[in-house]
Amino acid sequence: MHAWLCETLDGPASLHWRERPTPAPGADEVVVKIHAASLNFPDLLIVQGKYQFRPELPFAPGAEFSGIVEAVGDAVSHVAPGQAVAVLAGSGGFATHACVKALQVMPLPAGFALRDAAAFAFTYGTAHHALVDRAALQAGETVLVLGAAGGVGTAAIQVAKAAGATVIAAASTDAKCGLCRDLGADHVVNYASTELRVALKSLTGADGVDVVFDPVGGHLAEPAFRAIAWRGRYLVIGFAGGQIPALPWNLPLLKGASIVGVFWGDFVRREPEANVHMLGTLSALYERGLVKPVIDAVLPMSRLPEAYERLENRAILGKLVLVPDDLL
Ligand SMILES: NC(=O)c1ccc[n+]([C@@H]2O[C@H](COP(=O)([O-])OP(=O)(O)OC[C@H]3O[C@@H](n4cnc5c(N)ncnc54)[C@H](OP(=O)(O)O)[C@@H]3O)[C@@H](O)[C@H]2O)c1
Repeated sequence: MHAWLCETLDGPASLHWRERPTPAPGADEVVVKIHAASLNFPDLLIVQGKYQFRPELPFAPGAEFSGIVEAVGDAVSHVAPGQAVAVLAGSGGFATHACVKALQVMPLPAGFALRDAAAFAFTYGTAHHALVDRAALQAGETVLVLGAAGGVGTAAIQVAKAAGATVIAAASTDAKCGLCRDLGADHVVNYASTELRVALKSLTGADGVDVVFDPVGGHLAEPAFRAIAWRGRYLVIGFAGGQIPALPWNLPLLKGASIVGVFWGDFVRREPEANVHMLGTLSALYERGLVKPVIDAVLPMSRLPEAYERLENRAILGKLVLVPDDLL
């Protein structure tokens, strides 16, 4: 097998394509031949040593992937060789094969495309857990999505629309805003060319937005919070902008509003049954065509450094999917 190995925590430059012995599975493990892996923002943080957990060096990044089971350990019964699966393993996906714990492997329902499956659970799981579980979003409410053309942003637009909400999508270019409109956003705001607070005031007047979905943070957070409605919920998803914002505490008081932390990875660990139930709900939405990963491009795995460069330059609309070169 081959893998992009991260040998030092110096960012994407520390990745090298290396040959490794193809592993045999332990009793509770599964070996998967990878067919597709998607790039998520934490795949950047992990090779910079800035993510919540640090795998032992060297490791292959690539948290989310899909493929066909090649071999299973003696104690594994829920998947078998030849089966199509999605895997959420935290790392290991930017490779031709991976050996992972059986618990991290989900059999795919018939009709679930392998490339979609590689770009699904991370973003849609986060968006659904945030909007439906943590914010208890109701049909008819208004949701503001920041960084709306990114991975979790595009998923949040689709999940919010499927829940019957009105969506205001905000992003940094007209092309990104155009994508958001195509995905069903009711209103779009280009926050690079318009003052966010002014645009939100003119869109929502005195009512404000019921839910803010914020994967960007930084200077966008305060104007977004100032536009929140009475009893609004501000979902803290991430800080792709690089700055963790600070907020004057009188603002939540004045709006009777909540700041709600969202940590999907720990939700998966702490509430595995609730997560499985949620993924079933999302799978049904996929089957009905109500959610579908937005794939900007499918690149050969050999072009992973270019994929990282595009992520760092905010140049991805939706998600990038990497496919081992021999399978393209
Ligand atoms: N809490 C959780 O459970 C959870 C789960 C998954 C992801 N996350 C977090 O959510 C955030 C977004 O993840 P993602 O996979 O959606 O990433 P992504 O696809 O790269 O999207 C991030 C968006 O953030 C905006 N952005 C603003 N400043 C940026 C900068 N300096 N560099 C890069 N992007 C910038 C960009 O939109 P514009 O150009 O339009 O501003 C970009 O489209 C990350 O911080 C990630 O760690 C959290």
